[in-house]
Amino acid sequence: MLYDQIQESLTYLRTQTDFQPEYGIILGTGLGSLTDSIQIEVEIDYKNIPHFPVSTVESHKGKLVFGTFAGRRIVAMSGRFHYYEGYSMKQVTFPVRVLNALKIKQLIISNASGSTRAEIAAGDIVFVKDHINLQPENPLRGENDERLGPRFPDMLRTYDIELNKKAIQIARTHNIRAHEGVYVGLQGPNLETPAEYEYLHRIGGDIVGMSTVPEVLVARHEGLPVFVISVVSNQCYPIESIRETTIEEVIEVVEKAAPDMQLILTELLSE
Ligand code: HPA
Repeated sequence: MLYDQIQESLTYLRTQTDFQPEYGIILGTGLGSLTDSIQIEVEIDYKNIPHFPVSTVESHKGKLVFGTFAGRRIVAMSGRFHYYEGYSMKQVTFPVRVLNALKIKQLIISNASGSTRAEIAAGDIVFVKDHINLQPENPLRGENDERLGPRFPDMLRTYDIELNKKAIQIARTHNIRAHEGVYVGLQGPNLETPAEYEYLHRIGGDIVGMSTVPEVLVARHEGLPVFVISVVSNQCYPIESIRETTIEEVIEVVEKAAPDMQLILTELLSE
């Protein structure tokens, strides 16, 4: 059972370290360099953790990094799992359940995204205030284990708007271009057609990506507060602004903006 698998992962991690993190941080595409700023206590390869999936995408490393960042005790997921890689939604979100079992107080999720709003440019940062789930599967589908969370999680207060406000303020003081926005989660792995970007704009999406929503759903299921920070790698609205996009360009743009994200997170966490 899922519950037992989580306990087995937890038990293994506790044989490796008794470090107690306050924050969990999922590092998205191009954002792995944040680990350079962690005073590392211990690193644990996913492949050694019972029931953990193993990364397949080259741009994602696969380890849990326990340590101190911005004066806070954190555990970072260096390498995350995407549905498009072929994992089930249960696998994609399993690490979030393990982080919650470690008793973190807050989950911070980062990602790369495309912009479907004219005012949001490549290199900008977006704090997610809501999402639209267009992914074809749901990690909460199937028998519900009440020990993990409720059958029908409410989604009204999913994103911490207060934290977003603080983050926007911090960005302003550093002249970093930042916004609040609605994230649309799609399956991928292809990017969207111009007609699809137009559609995403019209339904109220500000940014679009291939991750995050499943992890947010599971965090919500478990009552774990989430803060989502997205780095825009490509602008896709209006449709005349769309350029061909490669993963190399996505990573390049995101890596360039990674220090901005790190600065914001550092100030946010040290407050
Ligand atoms: N679409 C979907 N996911 C993405 C994009 C995009 O344009 N850019 C970065 N991740």
